[in-house]
Amino acid sequence: MSSSTDSVVAIYPGSFDPLTNGHLDLIARSSRLVGRLIVSVLNNDAKQPLFSVTERMDMLREVTAGLANVEVDSFDGLLVDYASARGATLIVRGIRAVSDYEYELQMALMNRRLRPEIETMFLLSGEAYSFISSRLVKEVVRLGGDVTGLVPASVEVRLAERFRPAPILNPVSR
Ligand code: PNS
Repeated sequence: MSSSTDSVVAIYPGSFDPLTNGHLDLIARSSRLVGRLIVSVLNNDAKQPLFSVTERMDMLREVTAGLANVEVDSFDGLLVDYASARGATLIVRGIRAVSDYEYELQMALMNRRLRPEIETMFLLSGEAYSFISSRLVKEVVRLGGDVTGLVPASVEVRLAERFRPAPILNPVSR
């Protein structure tokens, strides 16, 4: 039996630099609530990301390959304009703790003011993921810590490659 939400197209926007298991949990859970979920990476030159937009999209595609109604994309400009252009009527965001709420509330209200026809839906992050952030994951890896279980294995590999010390080249013998 089909439900009325089958026709809903939703956008899950973010920086995803890189994607964590918290993001992945949210993607899996929200994809079950809508007809189509577009996970979209913000293309923002102002931020200095660790991974390029293409790399972040590749990682997202790798881990969402098994979710038939999930698509990966990127966007720039206003989120609500992009959502509208993609035929989406819903924006999905995750809330980990009270500290996320203020920023998310501001964004949701601004987005509603810009385009009232687009709703924002907040999902609480899974308890096991409520302390994970892309920023902390990068910091831990950069300082030599273990992030197993916090990010998908494929992301862990890419993080290790990114922070691997540069090889010391043999001096040319004279
Ligand atoms: O993962 P992030 O960095 O918390 O995601 C933030 C994001 C991408 C959702 C937000 O920065 C955004 O929507 N940027 C697009 C520009 C925009 O629409 N700004 C006005 C919204 S208040």
